[in-house]
Amino acid sequence: MSKQSTTLCVAGGSGLVGSNIVKTALAAGYRVNATLRDAGDESKTRHLKALPGAADRLTLFSADMSDSHSFDDAMAGVDGVFIASLAPRYRGPDGTPATKMDDAQGWRDIIRPTADGCLAIMRAAARAGTKNVVICSSTSSTNPPEPIAVKNERDAVSDPDEQMRRKKYTAAEKIVMEREAQAFADDNDQRLAILLPTIMLGPTVLPQHLERGFHASLAAMVDGRKGQHDTVPSGSISMAHLDDVAALFLAAYEQQAAQGRYFALYDSWPWVDIYQALAPHVPDAGLPAPLTGAAEEPTRFDFTRRDSLGVTFRDIPTTLAQTVEWIKKRPFG
Ligand SMILES: NC(=O)c1ccc[n+]([C@@H]2O[C@H](COP(=O)([O-])OP(=O)(O)OC[C@H]3O[C@@H](n4cnc5c(N)ncnc54)[C@H](OP(=O)(O)O)[C@@H]3O)[C@@H](O)[C@H]2O)c1
Repeated sequence: MSKQSTTLCVAGGSGLVGSNIVKTALAAGYRVNATLRDAGDESKTRHLKALPGAADRLTLFSADMSDSHSFDDAMAGVDGVFIASLAPRYRGPDGTPATKMDDAQGWRDIIRPTADGCLAIMRAAARAGTKNVVICSSTSSTNPPEPIAVKNERDAVSDPDEQMRRKKYTAAEKIVMEREAQAFADDNDQRLAILLPTIMLGPTVLPQHLERGFHASLAAMVDGRKGQHDTVPSGSISMAHLDDVAALFLAAYEQQAAQGRYFALYDSWPWVDIYQALAPHVPDAGLPAPLTGAAEEPTRFDFTRRDSLGVTFRDIPTTLAQTVEWIKKRPFG
């Protein structure tokens, strides 16, 4: 089947990750059905509709994970679905922070809605006969109780019970979701790949995504204001370019042998090195005060599985430079 006659569904197509998958899939020539909760929300849809290829090959649908059947129209005739709608839940519906919950509430308000939402989309895919599923999870599911020196996707698996004991319900939601999604895929003859990203930079499709997270920090620093740090932290951070992550999603769909978990990040670097790489690109006033003391060792990864998908990730200085130079152009006015 040619790309032009293949339709992919992106659940969460207005999200940071999802909108970049939409952009990349359109650029590759696919037809794309993208979902968001309100396809009439112009503040989001006009940026998706402006993507190259969108006029002819993008269709937007309203769908909510709390209702599996709301995905039926978006899933019709779809060969592969990307589930990028499982944004972390930090609060319950009554506003209680996840960190203040007991196990019963953490399970009901944080963990279950994420796992159930994912299964709702997978059920819609199964009804439509869609056999290829790629889920966007997170490295928050890769923290086993006993730390391992070099993380790989098979061994770096969080223990939900341990995470609940530590009140990390927001992290536990992802590993519970992954396990239930894998069981569903096995029972329903779906091929499932699970991608594990962390902080992602690079150009965003929607302006809303420039206003949050490390993108917002970089935007402040470009203007000579401090970002998220007053002083360089001693820890480290993992990072990737959004376009490389989106390319990995597409590769996981296109390569029929791809299944199971894959890291979706370039590498982890100490913050001190991150700010050193940023220094030539932002005014001094935006930079945090120097680290006092030694930097901690960054997390180390085995990228054999990631690299088996054949996507080359940009290094961190390149990702930072491209993001900051893009921000300087005031892309959204
Ligand atoms: N952003 C990061 O830095 C980061 C880092 C590591 C991992 N990840 C992972 O990447 C995945 C996507 O995150 P993101 O940052 O791209 O999220 P996001 O920007 O918040 O986008 C979430 C998407 O899901 C949709 N959505 C939200 N609630 C929904 C519901 N109840 N039913 C259906 N759709 C719903 C949103 O649509 P609306 O427009 O209707 O809100 C939006 O399209 C998550 O699994 C997250 O853990 C993200």
